[in-house]
Amino acid sequence: MLIRKPTDVLPSEITPRELFARRREFLTRSGAGLIAGAALWHGLPRHAGAATRLQTPPSALSTTEPLTDYKAVTTYNNFYEFGTDKGDPVRNAARMAVRPWTVSVEGLVGKPRRFDIDDLLKLAPLEERIYRMRCVEGWSMVIPWVGFPLAALLKEVEPLGNAKYVEFLTHYDPEIMSRRPVLDWPYGEGLRLDEALHPLTILAVGLYGEVLPNQNGAPVRLVVPWKYGFKSAKSIVTIRLTEKQPETAWNKAAPQEYGFYSNVNPAVSHPRWSQATERRIGELRKRPTLPFNGYADQVAGLYQGMDLKKFY
Ligand code: MTE
Repeated sequence: MLIRKPTDVLPSEITPRELFARRREFLTRSGAGLIAGAALWHGLPRHAGAATRLQTPPSALSTTEPLTDYKAVTTYNNFYEFGTDKGDPVRNAARMAVRPWTVSVEGLVGKPRRFDIDDLLKLAPLEERIYRMRCVEGWSMVIPWVGFPLAALLKEVEPLGNAKYVEFLTHYDPEIMSRRPVLDWPYGEGLRLDEALHPLTILAVGLYGEVLPNQNGAPVRLVVPWKYGFKSAKSIVTIRLTEKQPETAWNKAAPQEYGFYSNVNPAVSHPRWSQATERRIGELRKRPTLPFNGYADQVAGLYQGMDLKKFY
């Protein structure tokens, strides 16, 4: 992100192709369905919260591409509050207590409310959403998230007519997190209201059929699959509806590198590297990056008439 060049993944972090193939074969043969199959394959539970299994039906909005290995998804992370190396979050994020936890939904809404995380989980049926995720650094993954549409939460609080944007602020506790001013803590992100209401935009509370590991943003994080990964704020505590476009952590840190929209756009290079290709974690070859990360059919209409080179 800010300080780095695109990171090359160590050979030890790459899942052999035959492992993918064997898993797909296993999942296909398993009558028990993807969630149960993934759980067996990975020998879960793997962490303190794993007793809570999240049995969820797969969503039609999922991709059928091979999943990125569980280990890579949960050990190769960006969560700068816990350190800037990819391995820091899995080492350090266990310090974060994720119960009790509340999410305040406020600002330009008719019914502002502070949700206890367990009530938030009951707002809508949980679904499995297998999404391609593309990091601005040039790598990508396919992750089986468990979550529900952000729209279900926004509907509860009744956005007012002048609400145009949604701001997300995440947990910051200097006692357990970095005090280095890498970013302007707390980490903030934002979406336009129509982006936030889009059916692909979810609040994720789990992955691979288990509750979200801390390093992936427990207990609740945003997932917006057509935008670069940094839009997906982790460990959210405040959601605020606003009339003005909110500031975002990466835009404040390096405005020439990270714009508000941050749609995956292979035609717009990062000032320090091309975005034309990406490396799927677990593969050696590079593959072309697709506009809107392959979700153009569903989301391009949101940006009709906009110059996406200017609004990068
Ligand atoms: N959220 C917070 N609070 N802090 C962060 O540093 N990093 C972002 C995003 N959300 C980040 C965050 C970036 S740069 C990426 S690529 C994704 O989280 C990574 O999510 P993952 O580790 O689950 O793959």
